[in-house]
Amino acid sequence: MSSRNMIKIYSPDAIANISRAALLAAEVLELAAQRVAPGVDTASIDEFCASYIASRGALAAPLNYRGFPKSICTSPNDVICHGIPSPDVVLQDGDIVNIDITVFLDGYYGDTSRTVLVGEVPSGVKLFVERAEKAMWKGIEAAVVGHRFNAIGDSIERYVKKFNYSVVRDYCGHGIGAAFHEDPAVLHYSSRSALPMLQNGMVFTVEPMINMGKNWRSEVDQIDGWTARTVDGSLSAQFEHTVAIVNGKAQVLSIPPHSI
Ligand code: MF3
Ligand code: CO
Ligand code: CO
Repeated sequence: MSSRNMIKIYSPDAIANISRAALLAAEVLELAAQRVAPGVDTASIDEFCASYIASRGALAAPLNYRGFPKSICTSPNDVICHGIPSPDVVLQDGDIVNIDITVFLDGYYGDTSRTVLVGEVPSGVKLFVERAEKAMWKGIEAAVVGHRFNAIGDSIERYVKKFNYSVVRDYCGHGIGAAFHEDPAVLHYSSRSALPMLQNGMVFTVEPMINMGKNWRSEVDQIDGWTARTVDGSLSAQFEHTVAIVNGKAQVLSIPPHSI
């Protein structure tokens, strides 16, 4: 069976539950981002998140997911995604770091991430990070009923190309809800193949990883088996939201309603 037949359509009730998980993830992400500063190690951010998530009666989805050893992902500088929090990774003034939070609450998953500036960051890097966030919004706004999932990647890639950045192809967004990673794969780049049609009730992430250099390729750390880095050492930034298609367009579940 092709993957297009496997995409779940969630009821409004289920979407409300996924939304509760996504909002908890957003809350944890905000608190985690507030802890980012020069001299802070990423393990301390992980420990804070682990206990906060537990205190809310939820589970940190990454922990033990396919053997992932920590509760959150922390991906600094040239790390594209899946960085493992460590006491040895001490954030430095001028760094950027993506923090990715996924929680499992009352049977549903919510997933959101953002790239945070550490101290004073060069203006070109700050602009790059702002454009990576804008790229995510371009993708979210393109997710409308009547179009295929291709519209998301087309929109992101068209925007990013203007700056000679590149869109990572080795990692994608994903359906989410009752499972952490569901169909479909949400491509953030232009694809020649016809992806599924967007439909009301679909729930998925949009989470483009943008490399500041022209090379979109990644390589996974041979020792830890997780950390994905740019092959050319260039910076990589990522933003992620969990969205549901409601009334024909993407409703962002991982933003508190009062802040929209
Ligand atoms: N949160 C990541 C995503 O956006 C997945 C992390 S999987 C892990 O899909 F095992 F690395 F935690
Ligand atoms: Co994530
Ligand atoms: Co995700």
